[in-house]
Amino acid sequence: MKKITTTILLLAYFISFSQQKKIDQKVDILLKQMTLKEKIGQLNQYTGNNQATGPITINPNKEVEIKDGLIGSMLNVIGAKYTRQYQELAMQSRLKIPLLFGQDVIHGFKTTFPIPLAEAASWDMEAIGLSARIAATEASACGIHWTFAPMVDIARDPRWGRVMEGAGEDTFLGSKIAYARVKGFQAKLGDVNSVMACVKHFVGYGAVVGGRDYNSVDMSDRMLWETYLPPFKSALDAGAATFMNSFNDFNGVPATGNKYLQRELLKGKWNFQGFVVSDWGSIGEMVNHGFVKDNKEAALVAITAGSDMDMESNAYRFNLAQLVEEGKVDIVLIDDAVKRILRKKFELGLFDDPFKYSNLKREEKELNDLNYRKAAREVAAKCIVLLKNENNVLPLSKGIKKIAFIGPLVKEHKQNMGFWAVELPEINYDKQVVSQWEGLQNKVGKNTQLLYAKGCEVQGNDKSGFEEAVAVANQADVVILSIGERWNMTGEAKSRSNIHIPGVQEELVKAIQATGKPVVVLINGGRPLIFNDTADSVPAILYTWWLGSEAGNAIADVLFGDYNPSGKLPMTFPREEGQLPIYYNHFNTGRPAPNETATNYVSAYIDLKNSPKFPFGYGLSYTTFNYSDMKLSKNKMSNSDTIEVSFNLTNQGKVAGDEVVQLYLRDKVGTVVRPIKELKGFEKIKLNAGETKVVKFVIDNQMLSFYNEKLEFESESGDFDLMIGASSEDIRLKATFELIK
Ligand code: NOJ
Repeated sequence: MKKITTTILLLAYFISFSQQKKIDQKVDILLKQMTLKEKIGQLNQYTGNNQATGPITINPNKEVEIKDGLIGSMLNVIGAKYTRQYQELAMQSRLKIPLLFGQDVIHGFKTTFPIPLAEAASWDMEAIGLSARIAATEASACGIHWTFAPMVDIARDPRWGRVMEGAGEDTFLGSKIAYARVKGFQAKLGDVNSVMACVKHFVGYGAVVGGRDYNSVDMSDRMLWETYLPPFKSALDAGAATFMNSFNDFNGVPATGNKYLQRELLKGKWNFQGFVVSDWGSIGEMVNHGFVKDNKEAALVAITAGSDMDMESNAYRFNLAQLVEEGKVDIVLIDDAVKRILRKKFELGLFDDPFKYSNLKREEKELNDLNYRKAAREVAAKCIVLLKNENNVLPLSKGIKKIAFIGPLVKEHKQNMGFWAVELPEINYDKQVVSQWEGLQNKVGKNTQLLYAKGCEVQGNDKSGFEEAVAVANQADVVILSIGERWNMTGEAKSRSNIHIPGVQEELVKAIQATGKPVVVLINGGRPLIFNDTADSVPAILYTWWLGSEAGNAIADVLFGDYNPSGKLPMTFPREEGQLPIYYNHFNTGRPAPNETATNYVSAYIDLKNSPKFPFGYGLSYTTFNYSDMKLSKNKMSNSDTIEVSFNLTNQGKVAGDEVVQLYLRDKVGTVVRPIKELKGFEKIKLNAGETKVVKFVIDNQMLSFYNEKLEFESESGDFDLMIGASSEDIRLKATFELIK
């Protein structure tokens, strides 16, 4: 069997090697025919006219420039009709080199899936991969070849608006998700329903000072290697075709002009064969950083550092030719960048058929496939996190007579799509997105009466709607309140210094609570929000993020127990902004606080607890799970050895449910200090009521290794704590083992 597998692998390797060789030959032949101007054209990317995703520079000459072969790629051109139109222009150019169409297909295309942070809460790699697969299928039918996703930046500060676009705070979970997303988008490059992934933002963007977007980043090498780089490496291992660099300066050098990161690490040490695109205008922005004096020097620094394509800076277009003529830029650098881009165009099959992906018939079919809506509903339900459920208020019974559904987000449609949702021209999103109100309507039978009041707006001080809301609540048997952020309060350039639930919404919750009716609160948001009063007083809370096209139906599925919630938080929820940044895998410090009240001469705040409001990995279910009988195959291992850990997981309740079991390790003593715990394994287990399963993890040397003082990835002998938990704080089983080297 082993022999057959090896033969198949060798064969596959040989085929791909010879295909690659053929492509390289074609690229070389084409390159020889290209003028310097045409080469530079390939490195140039412009935005189209649909949905701007950055500060547009108006260029009335776009069409002419495409015909002149001066543009290699476009973004923000949405729809087969429009991608075809631009591609037809490219076919009028001298060498007929096809355009590459890129787009931020971040969480769905026409069918909007939950925002990436919400999907991370599912801890379900199959669901996350499926969401990316469907997005790629829809997008590619419209002529998109390339998505600017996944964003794999680790984020420990929810003030940063872009936390919504990533997988949260944890490197291990983030790396698994990065892998699943790349595989989902790319499936098999060259197939008509695959798109190239673009891993972003290389690197450090998640660590911007103070959570303020586009801000500076300063971090140690070890922090970079241990915490921020692994998801990028994981995406690369999944075969990611492209990378995007980032806006931030990194240890004093803008990432876009950082030669160490792009040329030495990514293209050198990691042997990345694809191409690097700049972020929007980030080459030109090096002037603002004070790193270069003008756009010309910016072009010189960026191309030297390994940025292959210029997104919307116009720095390459206007300066590279002169820099080559002056002998400042070696043509070898330009040729390398052009080759990397052309290779991808060949791999996608665009030279055989430039219109391969822009297919009106396929567009019509793919954009109306109801199976995708079904998948979006299932994935969305998996993302919802049950934060609280006192007295089993949830799930609601389908026999309830009157339900009051109150809040500013109840009847919204488009809001549910969240930030970074693609908007197709000609689509009416009020019809496309299932509102929370409609979801509830779809769920309840004729015998249930639904009452509605808005109560207040998301922002502002106006409480004039409270009276009506209270009156409506008084008539009902149960009240559901839907509150949170507006969809565009998180996302790019949406950092907030105050991440409390805005406006008077929490006061509305209080007023409704005073009626004495059972209350369920839905919290909508793109980041961990702060809502201490609600969290402390309301019996049932579901964190519903932004769930996309099927939001309303998915929420109703969970409210009534047709789906038993299984989401777990991928980010720590703080008590107050003063704790930020906050993350579970911190160091112990020399003066750890012995308890929540100790403040004197320990690492604590005198006015706030250290612990989060809700910890990383936390989420409840309508059932409960018991963890028992942990066994280790041995309690000493060498570095070529493994230890098998097994335990029983039992569903103790009356309904089936899924539990995400989490394995954490702590290296007790190291040559550099180690976190108090680190996630090293997880599994989502489905159990029927009363069922028990044996869960197994295997501990190997890789899981025990870290970047030591010399930046070598190695384990060290000594004792390790092993913790199995239902969250990073709810540790159910513990053991210790020893590594002997
Ligand atoms: C800027 C964002 O940082 C990046 O993530 C995105 O892909 C580009 N704009 C294109 O919209």
